[in-house]
Amino acid sequence: MNPTALITGASGGIGEQLARLFAAHRYDLVLVARSADKLQSLSAELALAHGIQARSLAADLADPGAPPQLFQALQGVDIDVLVNNAGFGARGPYAELDYQVEARMIQVNVAALAHLTRLFLPGMLARRNGKILNVASTAAYVPGPFMAVYYASKAFVLSFSEALAEEVQGSGVTVTALIPGPTETNFAATAGTQDSRLFRTVSVMSAAAVARVGFDGLMAGKRVAIAGASNRLTVFSTRLAPRTMLAKITSRLNS
Ligand SMILES: NC(=O)c1ccc[n+]([C@@H]2O[C@H](COP(=O)([O-])OP(=O)(O)OC[C@H]3O[C@@H](n4cnc5c(N)ncnc54)[C@H](OP(=O)(O)O)[C@@H]3O)[C@@H](O)[C@H]2O)c1
Repeated sequence: MNPTALITGASGGIGEQLARLFAAHRYDLVLVARSADKLQSLSAELALAHGIQARSLAADLADPGAPPQLFQALQGVDIDVLVNNAGFGARGPYAELDYQVEARMIQVNVAALAHLTRLFLPGMLARRNGKILNVASTAAYVPGPFMAVYYASKAFVLSFSEALAEEVQGSGVTVTALIPGPTETNFAATAGTQDSRLFRTVSVMSAAAVARVGFDGLMAGKRVAIAGASNRLTVFSTRLAPRTMLAKITSRLNS
């Protein structure tokens, strides 16, 4: 029997590329996102190409009821790998951003990730087998003026993942945070960052290359997997600079 990976945000970008990698490594898939049609065609394509079982569960993770509904729908299925990848950003001065969008961002990027982990981790611990991949960002390492909630949400993902990785050490379960920098997906269009200095000046990686780093880091049981040399350098340099200076630099990059 194949192991099963549940991937949120699998309808495009990094999540879709992760789904392709897991399928190629003969994992059965549970694909989650809002776009039911995209999930269905990806499930069908990957099932046919790799002889795996793939099911799609359309869900809006901005709805606090979605994680328990997914968990309920998967009773009797052992989830061996949980990939919390779904997420989005929004750019602008905090005082002017639509709070409904910010609240949904906190629900998707933070609360749904924490809830899905809480729901699926006990089964993994009981089976002494499991892997969790949480998609954070280089944004996790710095304060992010003009994308304040997004950067803070990713700081949560990194801190939460590193803490859990320590809690479960030696249990047969590993927790990995994936750290992408700017990546070629729909993220920038959704967040309104296509014309930001960050996306104009920093080298943008392909979603496939980022997914590969996440997959390999997860399989190696790494706690943190940073995508690409340029992003590793960025993360390293944040350790040396004062936070006020980092906030000023990020403010420029987000403007
Ligand atoms: N691209 C970058 O530059 C970059 C950099 C660092 C970190 N990241 C992180 O990488 C992760 C993947 O993003 P991406 O770059 O691949 O962007 P993307 O192409 O926009 O993909 C985002 C995925 O999340 C899903 N999603 C968004 N809102 C959702 C909701 N309410 N409920 C369920 N699913 C939802 C989307 O599916 P539906 O629209 O079908 O729901 C889509 O599958 C995110 O956590 C993002 O923060 C991205």
